[in-house]
Amino acid sequence: MESPNSISKIERCSGLSEKEFYNKFVKNSVPVVVTDKAKWASSEKFTPEFFKANYNHLKRTINGKTYTLSEIIDLCMASTPENKAPYPNIFDLNNDFPEYVDVIPKIVYGKSNRLFSPLLLNVFAKRTNQRQLFFGGKGCSFPTLHIDYLGVHTQLTQIIGEKDFILYSPDQTPCFYPDKVLRNQSPVNILDPDYSKYPLFKNAKAIKTTLKPGETLFIPSGWWHTTYIHNFNLTYAIDHVNSYNWNTFMDEIYLSARQNHPKLAWMIKGYKVVLGKTFDVKETLLN
Ligand SMILES: [Fe+2]
Repeated sequence: MESPNSISKIERCSGLSEKEFYNKFVKNSVPVVVTDKAKWASSEKFTPEFFKANYNHLKRTINGKTYTLSEIIDLCMASTPENKAPYPNIFDLNNDFPEYVDVIPKIVYGKSNRLFSPLLLNVFAKRTNQRQLFFGGKGCSFPTLHIDYLGVHTQLTQIIGEKDFILYSPDQTPCFYPDKVLRNQSPVNILDPDYSKYPLFKNAKAIKTTLKPGETLFIPSGWWHTTYIHNFNLTYAIDHVNSYNWNTFMDEIYLSARQNHPKLAWMIKGYKVVLGKTFDVKETLLN
């Protein structure tokens, strides 16, 4: 298996067992597109008309302006690179589409997704974006190059339209001049980089893929990424914590707690070890 910094393209895979997937991609921190685990997403059910007819009570406020879901969909359908729809338009599956929480199959990578375990304190699980839907339109791009918060893995399933994903391996972090406070955000505009301000970005090597309906992209913990959209678009995203990124996840929680509750933060270190061992034993017994 290649090391992350030598990966030159994002493979597509199918037919792998969860264990094979974990050993080949998760353990080696390799992004990949899974083509056979989300047939539900390419069904003809999830159309713009379906969402407008059934979910127009949903609203979002973006840049100070509140829109209904129908308005968001119409703006995304009319979006152009010169006149972009507001973005990102994020809806939460648990709160906004609860009837689909148990219907949409979960993709599990060899071990459990610890974010969904009742053993994990809700106060920690809720710090992540567990299940989200992103609507977008032509020309929309995620605002910043970033690493997903708290070191989670992300799986993104395309439902409508096609979306470009641009990824950079974790070892290239100095090329992105991470913000000193928001360490997972880069100030570099990768579409129009200012090399006088960010000269190391010249050395950065991106890998790209275009995700199609029914396909799922696995982005391992710590990979920098952003997106670009060519047409009306809907993507489903789930955060993922397993044995590979458990320590990273809990260490990020600890660092955040240390700022606000320094006297309690040390307890998180103990919690990480005890609960990590408990998960390891439980997952060994299950596999
Ligand atoms: Fe992300």
